[in-house]
Amino acid sequence: MAIRKRLHTRQTTFRQLEVFRAVAERLSVTEAAHALHLAQPTVSTQLARLAQALDVQLFEQIGKQLYLTDVGEELLATSRELFDVLDRLEMRLAQRAGLSVGRLRLGVVTTAKYLVPGLLGPFCQAHPQVEVEFQVGNRAEIRRRLQDNLDDLYVFSHPPRELDIELTLLTENPLVVIAPSEHPLASRRRIPWKALAGERWLMREPGSGTRHAIERFCETQGLSLDKSITIASNEAIKESVAAGLGLAILSRLALTHMAPGNLVELPVEGFPIANSWYLVVPRGKQLSPIAAAFKQHMLSQLGPQA
Ligand code: PGA
Repeated sequence: MAIRKRLHTRQTTFRQLEVFRAVAERLSVTEAAHALHLAQPTVSTQLARLAQALDVQLFEQIGKQLYLTDVGEELLATSRELFDVLDRLEMRLAQRAGLSVGRLRLGVVTTAKYLVPGLLGPFCQAHPQVEVEFQVGNRAEIRRRLQDNLDDLYVFSHPPRELDIELTLLTENPLVVIAPSEHPLASRRRIPWKALAGERWLMREPGSGTRHAIERFCETQGLSLDKSITIASNEAIKESVAAGLGLAILSRLALTHMAPGNLVELPVEGFPIANSWYLVVPRGKQLSPIAAAFKQHMLSQLGPQA
């Protein structure tokens, strides 16, 4: 115990312990120096410093033969334990680098939850020990996560360009007008905006990228959504449109995923609103090997070069 306590409190380096172990296991400074590719005086100096730092005698020399003292035996056992722990740490780090284990943290805006799982599935099959943390939120929530550096990779439709980020275009995310299939305009092939006057619109909450895109579009086109209800979920909006509560503008992918059967896209003039998904990482972020591999996977499936 004496040695372990002193190891904590004195200036002992791993290098000194490594040299000591090499000598103690061979009981020969010459052989240890050879094995470590060091000069003999260097080995002797390291041993002397270690003995001085611990304030003990580690070896006895009787004639030409070197012997470990009792304290030396204890230090040898302790250094073996210590190097075992370090070896296990090294193995775990190597496994991470080799992608076999580790954690992948993703933060995506709600519309991208229809996009990302299809990419994650095959990736996780290829790397079954990867643990995934998949955070879904509106634009404002995911922006906060990005600012706090909580995840490895992010997917946005409207990347917060005011932050220091790198973004890569993934794919298009057009926003379309949806209505219940029994809506009187559902069979029309072309619908002028004015035909929608008086409709009630189901809008996402402030902080939503979808809402932000719709407001920007209406502003530039000089359109207004007079009557609106705020509903903070794409799923609840789809159910409400299906139930006849009003119309909505949502990602086309939201319409084709997990949607009630009786929803249709209305061919309104000027629509869809052009929009895209982007892969976002904080500039200069050191991606883990797993995150880098998933980024590559996403770009190979969706990116400009896909
Ligand atoms: P959000 O996601 O509306 O949930 O913020 C949309 C987006 O930016 O595509």
